[in-house]
Amino acid sequence: MMRHMEELIQEVVIERDTVIGYPAAFRYVAAGRSAAVFFDHVEQKAVKVYFPSYEHLAEQEAAIYEQLSNPIYFPQIYEVGDNYLVMEYIEGKTLYDCLVEGVTITPDMIRRVDDILEYAVSKGLNPSDTHLKNIILTKDGTIKVIDVVRFTQKEVCEQWPDIKKAYYLYYQKRFFPKKYPRTLIELIIYLYRSNLLPI
Ligand SMILES: Nc1ncnc2c1ncn2[C@@H]1O[C@H](COP(=O)(O)OP(=O)(O)O)[C@@H](O)[C@H]1O
Ligand SMILES: [Mg+2]
Repeated sequence: MMRHMEELIQEVVIERDTVIGYPAAFRYVAAGRSAAVFFDHVEQKAVKVYFPSYEHLAEQEAAIYEQLSNPIYFPQIYEVGDNYLVMEYIEGKTLYDCLVEGVTITPDMIRRVDDILEYAVSKGLNPSDTHLKNIILTKDGTIKVIDVVRFTQKEVCEQWPDIKKAYYLYYQKRFFPKKYPRTLIELIIYLYRSNLLPI
């Protein structure tokens, strides 16, 4: 039987930014501000389904991935639909997961993110919204950046420079903990977004 991704996507029910239901062939992976991501067991791929008010971002993000055209630094893209993107599922953990689980973030990992973002600049893009949940340490120890949809914005995004500052100022210090409770990380992110942090 032919299996159509579009039919599976119709079984994904999202209200505003809350996933209500999804097909049995999918496993829920995570959600961000604009979409929820599933793992498709049959195709072994990631399916990013945009929230109703962000559906227009599917084509935009696909176009940016095409402009980047680099399957080493970014996930490979297989299909774009009205409100979804089918891409390579990257096995690994986000840098956010690394903080929660106590996996050490090394200076080399930070440099690799820099290389990737520099590459994006060389392709005429403006890397934006690069934060801990949008960087994946793969299971082979390489780094990939995901969620590139804001790479065409004009404004300068300070998130990655700020993360780097915090990394060298605090995280790298010998006695600084490498593992953090999720609630503390969320609090720090909240304070950062409210401009209440001295970095
Ligand atoms: N290709 C992928 N492989 C593995 N996990 C992914 C992939 N794409 C996204 N994710 C997970 O899903 C989360 C949300 O996806 P993301 O593209 O960042 O959505 P949003 O635009 O809403 O922030 C990510 O933080 C990450 O944990
Ligand atoms: Mg994201």
